[in-house]
Amino acid sequence: MKREELKGFERRAYNPIIRPKSEQVLKEIVESLKPKKALEIGTFLGYSATVMLEAEAGLVLTTLEKDEQNAADATFNLKRFGKRAKVLCCDAANFLAECTEKFNLIFLDGPKGQYFKYLPKLKELLECGGVLVADDTLFHGYVTADGVVKHKHRTIVESLRKFKEDLQNDTNFQCQFYDFEDGIAVCKKIK
Ligand SMILES: C[S@@+](CC[C@H](N)C(=O)[O-])C[C@H]1O[C@@H](n2cnc3c(N)ncnc32)[C@H](O)[C@@H]1O
Repeated sequence: MKREELKGFERRAYNPIIRPKSEQVLKEIVESLKPKKALEIGTFLGYSATVMLEAEAGLVLTTLEKDEQNAADATFNLKRFGKRAKVLCCDAANFLAECTEKFNLIFLDGPKGQYFKYLPKLKELLECGGVLVADDTLFHGYVTADGVVKHKHRTIVESLRKFKEDLQNDTNFQCQFYDFEDGIAVCKKIK
């Protein structure tokens, strides 16, 4: 499905959809990993969900979206995947607090200021051999830029810096941080 065919596409200015090179990275990971179960945080209209579901016919995806209108549009946009696409309208933090199900792939594309808070639970929910992909890890370049961070960006930038540092220092994970588009991290749980 093309982006512009998505129900709700006119609202994209408020929530960016995965960019083309990052989409390609995500698609290739799904094609090579062939995950059976994936979790996505941040559905928006279901575009990245479509990329994953089209790339692996055996995949069942649980995708979390806080906003009711977005969740309703995503449910419509993902209807053709039937039971393979489960759109849950909830706050990711609440879902994570209760979740015990394991996943082979986690695509993190929700609130950037929460990435670091979510990380311990995401590590736990990921199967060994599974991959965590996180989008927008550069946050418009502020994450790697020198100098004082504007107050309004501070929580997000600090969260993303700690997120990266934690994963780089974790010997259970092998990570690559790509710096094209808005940055995308690919971290494999190796033990
Ligand atoms: C960048 S958009 C996701 C784009 C989508 N992954 C794609 O590429 O097609 C981020 C989405 O996360 C949702 N979101 C923000 N905070 C959330 C939270 N705490 N729990 C669940 N979803 C949240 C937003 O409403 C928004 O739709």
